[in-house]
Amino acid sequence: MARVLVTRHLPDGGLDPLVEAGHTLVRRDQDVAFTAAELAAAAGEVEGIVCLLTDRIDRAVLESGAAGRLRVVGNAAVGYDNVDLLAAAELGIAVCNTPGVLDETTADLAFLLVLAATRLASEAERDLRAGRWGGWGFMDHLARDVHGGVLGLVGYGRIARQVARRAEGFGMEVLHCTRTPTGFPGHVGSLDELLATADVVSLHVPLTEATHHLIGADQLATMKPTAVVVNTSRGPVIDEEALCDALEAGTIFAAGLDVFDGEPAINPRLLAAPRTVLLPHIGSATTQTRTRMARLAAQGVADVLEGRTPPNLVGG
Ligand code: GLV
Repeated sequence: MARVLVTRHLPDGGLDPLVEAGHTLVRRDQDVAFTAAELAAAAGEVEGIVCLLTDRIDRAVLESGAAGRLRVVGNAAVGYDNVDLLAAAELGIAVCNTPGVLDETTADLAFLLVLAATRLASEAERDLRAGRWGGWGFMDHLARDVHGGVLGLVGYGRIARQVARRAEGFGMEVLHCTRTPTGFPGHVGSLDELLATADVVSLHVPLTEATHHLIGADQLATMKPTAVVVNTSRGPVIDEEALCDALEAGTIFAAGLDVFDGEPAINPRLLAAPRTVLLPHIGSATTQTRTRMARLAAQGVADVLEGRTPPNLVGG
């Protein structure tokens, strides 16, 4: 039976697929992140790793694993930009992720941001908590309507489609933009066209070289001054400096962000920017979904260790 490193604490039952298969879990009592050096050292001692998106599984970690006996990395996240897939492929180490099980939960959170950002809910609550609410005011906290607006989805994967379902319930027109035509109604041919049309732009693309700063100054300038941007994908998909410029200048209306460039550090300009809702990367954070994610990552690792090809293999 194999030894599997589990980098952080996971919900009860999340590691059952490995336990039931008789593998030995290598864990630390304290739920603290491994340093890069600790992770590289630990990788050399195990056949499998179950890790989080906050663990950098870079070439050094993978090479140290390959020098030992590492065969598989199960990333308990749908995004896997924290794993060097090229190095994993070169070293023959399989990588799997957790697609499908978090779509609805993340879409709920994306829609929460659509609603909260468009209705300026955080600013209104901050006023109330700070004792700045002088009573019901006809002209106070005037925001924008969500219903009846146009939602522009950038990317049209599983999560985006769940966001689309929710938007339909709010009477929104839903458009989407992808690199290749989807064949589904609502596809628009260019990002600029989508940005110029949408009242709310919601980002659902993986972080790659092609999507880094996909939404920069030019794209923000293309959006309506009344538009709202929502990001539940990865922080670096937006150029945060350009976003702050646009919010400060009022050239877009509001932003709802669950992800940030350089998490957990937050650009201080974003913290100070007007009309923002900022959440600490909680898109998939429900007990049910995090348990499903842990189980799927663990199952992928168990599959590879037992000679099966997991359905959630993304590389290696
Ligand atoms: C969360 O951001 C994930 O990729 O699962």
